[in-house]
Amino acid sequence: MPNFSKLAQLRGFEINLLKGSVRRYSSSPANAQFREIISDQIKSIKEAGTFKSERVITSSQSTQITVEGSNKQILNFCANNYLGLANNPEVVNYSKDVLANYGAGLSSVRFICGTQDIHKKLENKIAQFHGREDTILYASCFDANAGLFEAIMTPEDAVFSDELNHASIIDGIRLCKAHKNRYKHRDLNDLENQLKSSTARMKLIVTDGVFSMDGNIAPLKQIVALAKKYNALTFIDECHATGFLGKTGRGTEEYCDVMGSVDIINSTLGKALGGAAGGYTTGPKELITFLRQKSRPYLFSNTLPPAVVATGTKVLDMLLTSSELTEKVQTNTKHFREAMTKAGFTISGENHPICPVMLGDARLASTFADEMLKRGIYVIGFSYPVVPKGKARIRVQISAAHSKADIDHAISAFIEVGKSLKVVQ
Ligand SMILES: Cc1ncc(COP(=O)(O)O)c(C=O)c1O
Repeated sequence: MPNFSKLAQLRGFEINLLKGSVRRYSSSPANAQFREIISDQIKSIKEAGTFKSERVITSSQSTQITVEGSNKQILNFCANNYLGLANNPEVVNYSKDVLANYGAGLSSVRFICGTQDIHKKLENKIAQFHGREDTILYASCFDANAGLFEAIMTPEDAVFSDELNHASIIDGIRLCKAHKNRYKHRDLNDLENQLKSSTARMKLIVTDGVFSMDGNIAPLKQIVALAKKYNALTFIDECHATGFLGKTGRGTEEYCDVMGSVDIINSTLGKALGGAAGGYTTGPKELITFLRQKSRPYLFSNTLPPAVVATGTKVLDMLLTSSELTEKVQTNTKHFREAMTKAGFTISGENHPICPVMLGDARLASTFADEMLKRGIYVIGFSYPVVPKGKARIRVQISAAHSKADIDHAISAFIEVGKSLKVVQ
């Protein structure tokens, strides 16, 4: 039997087992030094103005939310809840049923005793949705990105990655032993020059389908053509595309009219597809079989819980039978972008529900967001280092669940604040 109190002391904590609480006990010199080092770094982050604080939401995720410290309803324009399904009653009730029938979790990784029929069904459904052979589920898309490149790319191979790809892709590529090449953002000439000079056995072009800070879309048609020309494979991260980009929500491939051309797709269940959690890789069956043997975040992490599997399953069932929500978010996006542009704002990106309202100055973006909140609109200002210096912005995210009145309310607030801060006339 381990000596818990000794263990707790060693960690500098006293564990009050009866009350079930943990409180700080004492600090060893190493612990005190550690705290000091970290505190200094926190101070620097605060001084640089890049400290991220978290607003505490007291309702479910939705277009209308309440936050701690206020009982007012706030209109939410900053979630990745593109299809508005995060609190959809049909999705929640289905998830409750599955929770009741399949339990809270599997207490296991997939290959030991963590695979239920619902996991296999969801994997098949995702493959069906994307028109692929098979799918492997992960706890998140971060994990899917972390587990892919290391498993498949060797020192004989080469990766060609857009410089603005998501952090999880960058980290995933760091873990692999292939030659690493970074091409300029969406720059096809740079990509081609790098592909041309490579003698690698296997070449893999890696790009976000949609870049989430700018709402712009990878030039996939041309990338696929280059891949063909230089005998390369293609990978896209579809986190900000699956379920709503393209006519029927099949993502960047559909939007760019190259359905079925990409070799490997990673995406998330944590945004448009119900917003719970989970990620996946979908593609050739040999790849998926191999990842089940080799991909470390899959092999060494717990199975996705049944209630979470259920939300993804229900949402895909809905999307496989109707494109109504996909069309709604597209109509809402068009309306917001057109009205804001007409009012004199610069909205970056393409016709995507991520609508960055470009302001330039970091302080202006932060003041603007505060003023919007006073008018009941929740939006976030982004500034350096999240976006380049001098390109501060408010990133508005449109959902299928927003009504036209919600969007008009946001547009009026933008115009009012924009006039008072002399952004528009
Ligand atoms: C482009 C992109 N890839 C991957 C991820 C990670 O997805 P998940 O939340 O499922 O880990 C995100 C989430 O922010 C993302 O935006």
